[in-house]
Amino acid sequence: MNKALDPALMQAAEAVGSQIPTSMEAYWMPFTANRQFKKAPRLLARASGMHYWDVAGREVLDAVAGLWCVNAGHNRPRITAAIQQQAAEMDFAPPFQMAHPKAFELAERVAAIAPAGMGKVFFANSGSEAVDTALKMALAYHRVRGEGTRTRLLGRDRGYHGVNFGGISVGGMVGNRKTFGLAVAGTDHLRHTHDPARNAYSQGQPAHGADFADDLAKLVAMHDASNIAAVIVEPIAGSTGVLVPPVGYLQRLRELCTQHGILLIFDEVITGFGRTGQPFAAQTFGVTPDLIVCAKGLTNGAVPMGAVIAKNEIHDAFMTGAEHLIEFPHGYTYSGHPLACAAGIGTLDTYAEENLLTRASGDIAAYFAAGVHSIKGEPHVIDVRNFGLVGGIELQGIAGEPTKRAFSVFLDCWEQGLLIRTTGDTLALSPPLIIERAHIDRVIETIRTALRRAA
Ligand SMILES: Cc1ncc(COP(=O)(O)O)c(C=O)c1O
Repeated sequence: MNKALDPALMQAAEAVGSQIPTSMEAYWMPFTANRQFKKAPRLLARASGMHYWDVAGREVLDAVAGLWCVNAGHNRPRITAAIQQQAAEMDFAPPFQMAHPKAFELAERVAAIAPAGMGKVFFANSGSEAVDTALKMALAYHRVRGEGTRTRLLGRDRGYHGVNFGGISVGGMVGNRKTFGLAVAGTDHLRHTHDPARNAYSQGQPAHGADFADDLAKLVAMHDASNIAAVIVEPIAGSTGVLVPPVGYLQRLRELCTQHGILLIFDEVITGFGRTGQPFAAQTFGVTPDLIVCAKGLTNGAVPMGAVIAKNEIHDAFMTGAEHLIEFPHGYTYSGHPLACAAGIGTLDTYAEENLLTRASGDIAAYFAAGVHSIKGEPHVIDVRNFGLVGGIELQGIAGEPTKRAFSVFLDCWEQGLLIRTTGDTLALSPPLIIERAHIDRVIETIRTALRRAA
């Protein structure tokens, strides 16, 4: 008997035959208010298409693709079958000095939808690992070409690049950095691009702020280009409140990186795989970086996997020296894991069959944008932002209690059968790309109801 679980919830769960935890003591939950959660747990049991069902059998509409990852919707048959088949055929293959065919197949498939000239794919197991892989690749690339002084890594204020030491160092989320000591030395940060005074309620890309990219020129003047390896940005910052790049901003960053020999890394962990209306945001915004970091939608969230997609010339720079030597001393036991590769291939098949990678540039995205912007004027709302199938609704925080108001809206939505996400006092939406108009109506009306009764 689990004393932590509310008896009514237990009864409801038993009635629908759900498995419920026998104890909630041992599991230390990630990025969660553990004590609060365990007092009133939100337990998911099942998923299909646009929906989850909780352990009590209640249907919950998923407006965040799980956690920005289930782009094709839940439990898609091709993906499930691919994983099942692979699990029965071969559980694991060592990835160092060995390989298996599906790793090559998936890499080819990813390269085929990546920007032209980005044909090399290195596998990791999460966005965080892929970020740190990209940062190490950038350092090693300069060194292998005889520019080993280029060691400084630049990120951006309000950037989120996962939780490993490299990622938090170039990241700009104070809450994720301040607890963990010095992390990686030698980083610096551009300003973020959020400028509500000029850009509030922009539809799509905000008009003002390309000049924020000139911060890179300032950092070059400060540190000298010969000491800078790379700059990493999310094309759209998701985890710090859906910040869409101002018109011309990414282009300007690209120009400055090219001018100074600095590698440009796009962290496309959330923007990759169709979120912005093209396979990658690099294509949507017409800016080709040197490295793309991706994860999440790569396997539709079904098996953990991340990847770095590199320009051919970056890879080729490593392919010198004696052929029996390892060119890049980096990799994970589970890089290119057979189950992840099978899931990735099944995922890319599903995206292709249903044209999902471009769906967020069509009518449904326009309908979504209109829905999200119809929230303007509701209580507490101070800004609305959107791009493709991403939406952000920023609320005025409660004085002295940041995040509390948005979290109360999240809880209200959950009670109403809708899963959203909050970051700070912003409500974030990133639904599966299979979303239909009726779902969008439901998402918007549920949030509207929650806002109208929020304290
Ligand atoms: C932009 C970005 N980079 C990196 C990560 C980290 O990915 P993971 O949680 O798979 O390590 C995330 C996760 O949300 C992300 O949004």
